[in-house]
Amino acid sequence: MGLVKIAIIVLDVLKINCKYIPMLLNNKYQGGSQTNLIGIGGFGRVYKAWDTLLEKYVAIKMVTIEGAKIQYNLVEEVKKAATLTHENIVRFNDVFVLKGSSLTGEETETQVGVMEYIPDGDVSHLDWLSLSIAEQKDVILQILNGLEYLHKHKIIYRDIKPSNILIKRENGKIIPKMTDFGISKTL
Ligand SMILES: Nc1ncnc2c1ncn2[C@@H]1O[C@H](COP(=O)(O)OP(=O)(O)O)[C@@H](O)[C@H]1O
Ligand SMILES: [Mg+2]
Repeated sequence: MGLVKIAIIVLDVLKINCKYIPMLLNNKYQGGSQTNLIGIGGFGRVYKAWDTLLEKYVAIKMVTIEGAKIQYNLVEEVKKAATLTHENIVRFNDVFVLKGSSLTGEETETQVGVMEYIPDGDVSHLDWLSLSIAEQKDVILQILNGLEYLHKHKIIYRDIKPSNILIKRENGKIIPKMTDFGISKTL
């Protein structure tokens, strides 16, 4: 690979990072550095950021679409999720779109969804053996409660897996929270 090609790739990566984490996103959400990256999924990246108006941490999911390649619609995902209010479902608060252009001059659209920040990882890192049988049952029951709530609202989730169930610990109790409505379907 030639030096010029390497330089272009490096520039492109830097540009993407700057675009992903401007100092103040939408005049409100403070990112910072790459250390704020908390998750990488199939389409998007999730960052921890500071809501400077409400003065609390939030999680920001970003998906960039280049040119005509539209594989994922985060705005639709947030629209769906923002109607839901349940203790076992992650709460989305905001969505917006940033327009830009790539190094090759193609138009880019970065969709940004803002949700409550869930601090204690996801179920894929949960140490089940450290929990009593009653605690294990309680976690599973809460996940089923979230699922039942979705079904009552005519949403089929279609993506149950440990990395889509986040964890919040409150007064020693584990509260699982379902996230990622990317491939869910409304009946
Ligand atoms: N609200 C949140 N708070 C903390 N971490 C999150 C939050 N949302 C997502 N994450 C982290 O980011 C990862 C990817 O998020 P997800 O919405 O599942 O994206 P994808 O659709 O790309 O799979 C999750 O597995 C989790 O580790
Ligand atoms: Mg996911």
